[in-house]
Amino acid sequence: MRLLVVGGGAREHAIIWKLNAASKKHEIYCAPGNAGIGSEAHCIDISASDIEGLIAFVEKNHIEFTIVGNEEPLSMGIVDRFNERGLKILGPTKSAALIEASKAFSKDFMERNHIPTAKYRTFSNREEALQYAEDSDYPLVIKADGLALGKGVIICQTFDEAATAIDEMMVMEKFGGSGRKIVIEEFLEGEEVSVLAFCDGRTAIPMVPAQDYKKAMDYDKGLNTGGMGSFSPCKVYTKEIEEFCFERILKPTINAMRTEGRPFQGILFLGLILTQKGPKVIEYNARFGDPETQSVMLRLKTDLLEILLACQEGTLDKIKIQWEDNAAVCVVMASGGYPENYEKGFEIKGLNFYKSSQDIIIFHAGTKEKGTNIITNGGRVLSVCARGKTIEEARNKAYEAAETISFDGAFYRKDIALKGI
Ligand code: AMP
Ligand code: GLY
Repeated sequence: MRLLVVGGGAREHAIIWKLNAASKKHEIYCAPGNAGIGSEAHCIDISASDIEGLIAFVEKNHIEFTIVGNEEPLSMGIVDRFNERGLKILGPTKSAALIEASKAFSKDFMERNHIPTAKYRTFSNREEALQYAEDSDYPLVIKADGLALGKGVIICQTFDEAATAIDEMMVMEKFGGSGRKIVIEEFLEGEEVSVLAFCDGRTAIPMVPAQDYKKAMDYDKGLNTGGMGSFSPCKVYTKEIEEFCFERILKPTINAMRTEGRPFQGILFLGLILTQKGPKVIEYNARFGDPETQSVMLRLKTDLLEILLACQEGTLDKIKIQWEDNAAVCVVMASGGYPENYEKGFEIKGLNFYKSSQDIIIFHAGTKEKGTNIITNGGRVLSVCARGKTIEEARNKAYEAAETISFDGAFYRKDIALKGI
């Protein structure tokens, strides 16, 4: 089949790697891709958010099925546009992608459908937000309504911090239009778990759970990032919790999206906090998570394309999805300075060693070819992943690999998956 994957990070590399792992051989294109993806698919120089450019490419090259990795094109309505042209694509429509693109929408959606989440209020008026923050208990969480690359969430310990966050979002527009409206919500305590689910609008089948690491430094110090590592399975996600999340969160979400006239087709991501009072949703994403997908794909047994086509065709209930009885760990190698300023263009050494490994797989994010070398081209550069019988085994392999790969300024967290052992 002729396929197009939209995006260019380690998540998209993992999706393409898994598509290629099937016995059926596909012709895969990726827009825009990266140096690692380039060895498994044809990278094309079209940005993930250039919807009309993508449509032209798909029509000209007779692409049969498009899979969208990142949120921006989804929130811009790529699926609606492809549908209008009769092109086959998997992902939520613009109105269904609102579940990620607007925190105010997703909070109201959860409230009216009795889906457990943190207590909250939405504000478009600065004075009212300040008054509410003054009357609240701390810590308090302040969120920009719109997409902000995972950076629009500020956890405030004091009213002063909250007032600064409110002004940064609402007055200084640090997150652009995304912060004109804000959500203020109660701080939840507990382990965070990510559950991704395949959805066809009617049926939702959860994947194996994963935990990710948002902070830049060991033991959750430093700034928030796009994600510094992940692992799966998660011992905190017990059978009992799994059942609760399926019955009380996933099923009502998919049902309500349908009955509210925005059926969700694609990958739904539940960001959960396991509180003393039970699991609660802190966010939905309308796509595969990054870096959760890197770990989760290393555990999937069933052909990914077969599942994704079933999501698009509404036949997910006919499919049985199987998982390996294994464990996977992903360690992100980043450029010195990330998530703030960093330099690009450094040669990456040590990659070839893992090309033929079955258990150590290096997914690329910010990388680029330069002559015969591969150089750094972004903040998060590589997802160094490994699978094993246990988390401990996978973890050891991933760190062994990370130690032998190098580029100037490279850094990675040393504590990924420790809590999973
Ligand atoms: P989000 O962009 O909504 O995933 O939020 C980013 C991170 O902020 C989450 O992964 C959590 O670690 C944290 N966070 C968000 N909302 C809350 C909350 N209500 N209580 C505690 N932590 C939160
Ligand atoms: N790992 C969280 C996300 O993909 O937004």
